[in-house]
Amino acid sequence: MPGIRGPSDYSQEPPRHPSLKINSKEPFNSEPPRSALVSSYVTPVDMFYKRNHGPIPIVDDIESYRVSITGLLPKSIMLSMDDIKKLPKYNVTATLQCAGNRRTAMSKKRTVKGVGWDVSAIGNAIWGGAKLADVIELAGICKNTTSTSLGGKHVEFVSVDMCKEENGGPYKASIPLRHATNPEADVLLAYEMNGEILNRDHGYPLRGIVPGIIGARSVKWLDSINIIAEECQGFFMQRDYKMFPPSVDWDNIIWSTRRPQMDFPVQCAICSLEDEAIASQDKIKISGYAASGGGRGIERVDISVDGGKTWLEASRHQKRDAPYIADDINSDKWAWVLFEAQVDVPKNAEIIAKAVDTAANVQPETVEEIWNLRGILNTSWHRVHLRHMLQSGHSSL
Ligand code: MTE
Repeated sequence: MPGIRGPSDYSQEPPRHPSLKINSKEPFNSEPPRSALVSSYVTPVDMFYKRNHGPIPIVDDIESYRVSITGLLPKSIMLSMDDIKKLPKYNVTATLQCAGNRRTAMSKKRTVKGVGWDVSAIGNAIWGGAKLADVIELAGICKNTTSTSLGGKHVEFVSVDMCKEENGGPYKASIPLRHATNPEADVLLAYEMNGEILNRDHGYPLRGIVPGIIGARSVKWLDSINIIAEECQGFFMQRDYKMFPPSVDWDNIIWSTRRPQMDFPVQCAICSLEDEAIASQDKIKISGYAASGGGRGIERVDISVDGGKTWLEASRHQKRDAPYIADDINSDKWAWVLFEAQVDVPKNAEIIAKAVDTAANVQPETVEEIWNLRGILNTSWHRVHLRHMLQSGHSSL
């Protein structure tokens, strides 16, 4: 692994923004306050959630850094950062979401295992880099290939970080070859985030970005990219990030019965209010994010202040100031939508938000129907309980 290494302890971690909420220190897992997410359409790098499984790798010498493309292909190659930067550069605005986003709320219904995330294990960034389809082509595999002549059907990303789940080995994950070689899928080998060189926390010098797919498949600190016959057999593909039904518990789980989760489903959350927020007015502004996976944009976001009896449609409020790669300049194919609504709130209301994507998929009403032992993909209607403060001229308890 020339030029890059994964340290065995946490003594050389990068500096982080003090307002991040730390969910675990070693490995470092943190999310910004909810309100930070709705203050800009493109999430600032220092306010972007950080999800790690080991100490942050160190690049000793960027000149000697190489990523290898190897496995079941006509010729293996080693590429320097200069080689990657010679390929056409694309800027893709894409939302990255950890499958564990909103796990804490799922845990309140019935205990689940995993890092406790509120609603901010998600962010929207402009990722700059080469298309994976172009990189793989350098190794002799054409665009839109399902299988190589040697039987390669999956593309495995391998990192250098040392993860205890992999017994000290590196983090890895794979995507199907047909996805990796499809230029329309916009899978990137990214070296920039929001126009800046990727920082260490987010994968310097090179990471995969797989738009529309759970964050776990966007592998950071790339060391090698392997063309393999079967999907990656690593821990995070085979024994984690799989969606089980509510009937499966730790004493009856059979990991091989479920496929690794790829697309994320339609999701939204209110970010302008903490849960159990105190309201001092009857009219309030609600804002938040909505996103869906697989290239499905957001059709609408509905808001209710009466427990779901009646709904009003929120409006989109992001500025279209970010470059989009999709054909339609107004497309939110890979990116979230920020929404807002002005509502009159009854006393001690429960405010609910639910999103609908362009395939008319709707978020499920309750956590119970999607509960799963790993606490992934909590996409139930997002609820915030408001309590009213006693104030003259305003409604009161
Ligand atoms: N890549 C490596 N090498 N190691 C990791 O721990 N975590 C994955 C993914 N890629 C991870 C990784 C998970 S679970 C998520 S959600 C995203 O990175 C988080 O990316 P971020 O920290 O840049 O937000």
